[in-house]
Amino acid sequence: MVNSFDIRLPDDWHLHVRDGDTMKDVVGHTGSQFGRAIIMPNLKPPVTDAQGALQYKQRIQDALVGQPAFEPLMTLYLTDRTTPEMILEAHATGAAHAAKLYPAGATTNSDSGVTNIAAMDDVFAALADTGMLLLLHGEVTDSAIDIFDREAAFLETILPAIIRRHPTLRIVLEHITTEMAVDFVEAAAPNVGATITAHHLLANRNHMLAGGIRPHFYCLPILKRDSDRIALLRAATSRNPKFFLGTDSAPHAIEDKESACGCAGSYTAAQAMALYATAFEEAGALPSLEAFASLHGPEFYGLPVNTDRLVFERKAQIIPDRYTFGPSAVRPFFAGTSLQWTTHRA
Ligand code: DOR
Ligand code: ZN
Repeated sequence: MVNSFDIRLPDDWHLHVRDGDTMKDVVGHTGSQFGRAIIMPNLKPPVTDAQGALQYKQRIQDALVGQPAFEPLMTLYLTDRTTPEMILEAHATGAAHAAKLYPAGATTNSDSGVTNIAAMDDVFAALADTGMLLLLHGEVTDSAIDIFDREAAFLETILPAIIRRHPTLRIVLEHITTEMAVDFVEAAAPNVGATITAHHLLANRNHMLAGGIRPHFYCLPILKRDSDRIALLRAATSRNPKFFLGTDSAPHAIEDKESACGCAGSYTAAQAMALYATAFEEAGALPSLEAFASLHGPEFYGLPVNTDRLVFERKAQIIPDRYTFGPSAVRPFFAGTSLQWTTHRA
């Protein structure tokens, strides 16, 4: 049995750190395990232009002074008012690597998202021209569609047209949750990839709903069947370069989760790499962790791999009940359970 190993320092290709005091409480958790992270722009108000992205990046960097080197990679939040010029400016100033499309109303802070994806062709063309990536929250928002089918409906009704109309655009289908999404991405051209979260590799909808309703498992896209989880695990461990790590760690104050109408999001940042190692080891695939966590993402984004290392030791840790989160607290995913791995930067 392997008791310790190290890999090239990973990156998190999908992360929410929020802003202000709450951001200061969580961003160090990511910096302790990752060299870079793609920072989601769904603040209130959202980060929609180059200037906003540069300012947000500075606030994150200011919060990390004195801590190990960590680079926030910024994204723009697409709205109905985003113009191709805004994309060109974000590229020219180096403010953002990618643009995030939330269908309006799909998830947390997505009310300013895009209402008519068919009207975004000029913006998508600007992304393709500059080499910036399009990051998709791949769910339809039609209230008539069952919540467990919203990713599938997006793959059937929306994504094929985007790919057909923009064949050179690099597209990341974020936080995929279904066997159907795995199959879709595998069959698509090489410029279509996907991120996979730790929570979707470790949990299915029974964790959330059987024997009691557990709000800390509620995230979007929602957890699916165990057969879907197994398909995700197969993709993540396959060494197919289309699949790479994105935690979608999404902190919310405990009272906003444990509520009659709780927010979507699971907080995994503090134990992210130990959680992924747990999933990979259960699949007998620890040797494939580095490719998924540290190599495929940089390759897809066209960035160099990190030179630092992350060390894993077989040393049990119990996930704490809570972490400070501004004036409140955040409860981590799998709180109270014991993980067999701990990690530290070399
Ligand atoms: O569970 C989620 N939480 N999914 C998202 O798409 C957004 C995120 C958040 O910002 O809380
Ligand atoms: Zn997200």
